[in-house]
Amino acid sequence: MDYLNIAIAKGRLGDKGYELLKQIGLECKELEEDSRKLILTSEENKVRYVLVKAVDVPVYVERGAVDLGIVGKDTIMEEERSYYEIADLKYGKCRFAAAALEGFEIDSSKTLRVASKYTNVAKKFFLSKGIQADVIKLNGSVELAPLIGLSDIVVDIVETGRTLRENGMEIIEEMYDISARLIANKVSFKVKNDRIKKIMDDLNELTEKES
Ligand code: PRP
Repeated sequence: MDYLNIAIAKGRLGDKGYELLKQIGLECKELEEDSRKLILTSEENKVRYVLVKAVDVPVYVERGAVDLGIVGKDTIMEEERSYYEIADLKYGKCRFAAAALEGFEIDSSKTLRVASKYTNVAKKFFLSKGIQADVIKLNGSVELAPLIGLSDIVVDIVETGRTLRENGMEIIEEMYDISARLIANKVSFKVKNDRIKKIMDDLNELTEKES
């Protein structure tokens, strides 16, 4: 049997994803060791894990460097690449929202200044609403932008809402729900269909039980 190659992100998203895969028979002891290796193999289960940065998971999957990947729906929406999204893993739940300082109201006669890590998501959203937006790319601490006058609003991930609250901000529009997803390379999905299909079914069964 060929190896199944799976890209997972370093950190929480990948750790939880691996826990699920382990429960359905894709354990990899090498991955559980304290090491700096980036490719970890289980000869026994014929699986190879590749550790990458979360935003790069879709790149590896699209190009067929790996068969499968675990990635957040936020990254999927922002990156817009070509692969199959084959399972909702139902963890890492949060949402995209537009938020502003309390009391802020959109003035449709002016261009709205929007700060975000997710510029594609933000641009598309405001385009669909017919709102003229100047989208400013930031790489983190996005909530700072309205506080310091860099933008009018932010488009960001909201999990508990604590970051917004503690910075005097509120949600002005809920946008999209987010959770971790399993994605598959299109060729792998055909060539390794039996194995991938079984993984999809087992994961669906497992996450149904857990949710
Ligand atoms: C994320 C997100 C928000 C925060 C939301 O930031 O960008 O800032 O978490 O979580 P909350 O609703 O539970 O407060 P992250 O921690 O990834 O850091 P970043 O600011 O560097 O993006």
